[in-house]
Amino acid sequence: MNIIPIHVTDEAGKRHTLDGIEGWRVMEIIRDYGLPIKAECGGACACATCHVYVATEWVDKLIPPNSEETMMLDDAMAVEDNSRLSCQIILSPELEGLEVTLAPNP
Ligand code: FES
Repeated sequence: MNIIPIHVTDEAGKRHTLDGIEGWRVMEIIRDYGLPIKAECGGACACATCHVYVATEWVDKLIPPNSEETMMLDDAMAVEDNSRLSCQIILSPELEGLEVTLAPNP
């Protein structure tokens, strides 16, 4: 099991370092750590309640969103250029140190 640390800032501005696992969705890592993320659809790209902001320096290192994710983000609240659905980001060794911030919960 390959542990990959990532950093997640919560809505209060507190930064947490989480031990991610290769192959897991970033949403699953955030949820299992106990941070407040709804992720209502369980990662099916059907709710947008796993919305995060990706730190600028990481945006281009991620696989770009597919059309389903783009459509879900179109309907999400408070979307920014660096918005992503965290259930669509699969953790890989290249993402060690990834920085995301939780978007406001709808
Ligand atoms: S958990 Fe529903 S879109 Fe990500």
